[in-house]
This record gives sequence, structure tokens and C-alpha cells, in this order.
Amino acid sequence: MMTDKELLALASDARKASYCPYSGYSVGAALLCSDGSVYKGCNIENASFTPTVCAERTAVFKAVSEGRRNFVKIAIVGGRKDAPDGWAPPCGVCRQVLNEFCSSDFTVVLTDGENLRSYTLAELLPFGFGPQSL
Ligand code: THU
Repeated sequence: MMTDKELLALASDARKASYCPYSGYSVGAALLCSDGSVYKGCNIENASFTPTVCAERTAVFKAVSEGRRNFVKIAIVGGRKDAPDGWAPPCGVCRQVLNEFCSSDFTVVLTDGENLRSYTLAELLPFGFGPQSL
């Protein structure tokens, strides 16, 4: 059983691959699937700015493209490039992408490098628009 700290350590590892020359803000994410597999992701920026993808979506899209759709938890860390891991709450678009595949008790784990906080997706995206809305 993967602990929150272990998942955060994998997110921290993923953050090292961040490509963020424009914002200077690096993010790493580690997504735990129900079969125990973990998909890591980092933010990947672009000179044209809008094609930039967040770390969380990189992790989700990697997992879905490998056949995983059942997710338990995601750990996220971020901060200024070269600064230690800090609080990195997922952006609204990533919350929406998580909502497509995750149930309301899916957990988002964050840290400031010292303290841990965890939230359910329902807390972070109340009354979200999802597959059941259509
Ligand atoms: N970013 C993420 O990777 N995840 C989020 O949820 C918020 C923002 C990235 C996108 C961009 O490369 C940088 O952080 C600054 O916004």
C-alpha cells in the first residue's frame, strides 16, 4: 500500500523533468491507479504559451493512454524552479479533467515540504460538470 509520503516523493521526482522555461514554475504529479500502478507527470510549457500542459494532466493522459481509468489518489508538488517542493493546488482545468475519470472521494495530496494536506475531489470541485451531467 502506497503511503501519501511515498506518492509525494514520486511527485517530487516527476517535478525534476518539468520543462518550464517561461514561467519558471515547476510542478510534478504522481497518480495512483486502483491496480497499484503509478503514473508520473510534469508541466510541459511551449513558446506559444497556450499549448502548455500541467503536470496533473500529463499524468492523467499518460495513464489513460496506457489503459488505466480507475484512479485512487494524486500527489502534487510545485514551486519556483530550483526551490523546494511547496503547495501546488491543481488548476481548475486539471480538476475538470480529474472529474472525468475520478469519483468524488478521489484524493488530492499536497505538501509545503513539511505539512501534508489532503482533499477529496468533491471538496475541490463541488457540483462539477461530469459524464453524468450529459
Ligand atoms: N501548472 C501545473 O502544472 N499544474 C497546475 O495545476 C497549475 C499550473 C503549471 C502550468 C505552467 O507551466 C506553470 O505551472 C505556471 O502556471
